[in-house]
Amino acid sequence: MSDDVYRLIGPGGNEMKLPIRTGTVGPNLVDIGALYKTKGVFTYDPGFVSTGSCESDITYIDGEQGILMYRGYPVEQLAANSSFIEVSYLLLHGNLPTSKELEKFERTIRRHTMLNEGMLNFFKGFRYDAHPMAMLSAVVGSMSAYYHSEMDASNPDHRDIFAHRILAKLPTIAAAAYKLNTGQPFIYPRNDLNYCENLLHMLFAVPAEPYEIDEVAAEALDLLFILHADHEQNCSTSTVRMAGSSGANPYSAIAAGIAALWGPAHGGANEAVLKMLEQIGDVSQIKKYVDKAKDKSDPFRLMGFGHRVYKNFDPRATIIRDMCHKILQRLDRKDTPLFDLAQELEQVALKDDYFIEKNLYPNVDFYSGIIYKALGIPTSMFTVMFALGRSVGWAAHWREMIADPTTKIARPRQLYTGPAQRDYAPIEKR
Ligand code: SDX
Repeated sequence: MSDDVYRLIGPGGNEMKLPIRTGTVGPNLVDIGALYKTKGVFTYDPGFVSTGSCESDITYIDGEQGILMYRGYPVEQLAANSSFIEVSYLLLHGNLPTSKELEKFERTIRRHTMLNEGMLNFFKGFRYDAHPMAMLSAVVGSMSAYYHSEMDASNPDHRDIFAHRILAKLPTIAAAAYKLNTGQPFIYPRNDLNYCENLLHMLFAVPAEPYEIDEVAAEALDLLFILHADHEQNCSTSTVRMAGSSGANPYSAIAAGIAALWGPAHGGANEAVLKMLEQIGDVSQIKKYVDKAKDKSDPFRLMGFGHRVYKNFDPRATIIRDMCHKILQRLDRKDTPLFDLAQELEQVALKDDYFIEKNLYPNVDFYSGIIYKALGIPTSMFTVMFALGRSVGWAAHWREMIADPTTKIARPRQLYTGPAQRDYAPIEKR
């Protein structure tokens, strides 16, 4: 708590002193917790643009400086030196692991990748063309039907096994959804492979022939998962916290987060970027679509541009763009028209006054889809890939929320603008 206060002067000059809360770094927060009880008024902030929902030690973002830190470590350093499994340990436990801790953690994750065999029956019931995000949220929600004996949120061991199961089993569920879409048989996980090698194996191996892991593809996926792992109180993470705040089991809370991530304004943007690039089709059409994005009467937006917090470059987009170059250099240039189009679109938008004035820069979703496509992952699986990376962030935030003694059930208020009280009229009098 800071010594300073904000003085709120209401109608009639009545004043209220609002305490200020100061964090390690970043803007101060005005504590309005006593406002309604003291002054009988609510604050109004649709979309929570200026509202902090909690205290958190996990991730810090500075939108003006383009800074992203996991437990204090800049994401650029983690991207250059770490692995997704090591970053997962960091997000869940708060510090980088020793080699012994990392070896034990990785072995635990490798040994939790199989699903209860009964869960595979769900995939026999889905339509062959079901969207993988629909299948992911459904099957993750069903985990609470299999692991109900270990869902006591007050038990630290249950909180650990939940995090291990989410991290380890989501790739298996994601790959099963993809195999349903392709009509190919489900491929079981292998404990001798690392996290991303195993995912590639479950996605692309077939029983008819040996599958050779593409190590550059595994490296690219590991980097993408590090960059997607957490992002403070974004829409899907806030959804996980809100669902968990009622005491709902953690698997259902994660399923709620997956549903929120699916929206095109959030994690669904990477899928929407590829669809947009395919819609634009050619560099000659870029100006037409940039003009559409600027036209208030046109609902079209440049997907992959803009961010609620970053009013500068999204640091993740910069790292992903460089990885894009590396992946696409292996491909014949004739196969990379979408990347060339994306680069031209980025240059046009960044020079446009509208985008400059509104601080609209490429975000994490602008280039990630191009890498996924280059790796042979279909557009429908892009948001699933986002969910695989973000799953550990969701788990870390659920654990932090559930362990916080100040956590209350999340229950916002509203500004009522409906009809004043009126009496019921019999149907013959309506
Ligand atoms: C993610 O929160 C997170 O941390 C999310 C995320 C994470 O890691 O969890 O970073 C992942 O979700 C990234 C964002 C992916 N979404 C998209 O790329 C979809 C396209 N972007 C927009 O829909 C939008 O930029 C948002 C949703 C990302 C942010 O919207 P805000 O903060 O609510 O801003 P806004 O909609 O109020 O826009 C401000 C202005 C508006 O114009 P005015 O009303 O002021 O005249 O900028 C305009 C908007 O019309 N604008 C755009 C635009 N984004 C905003 N105009 C054209 N194209 C765009 N992409």
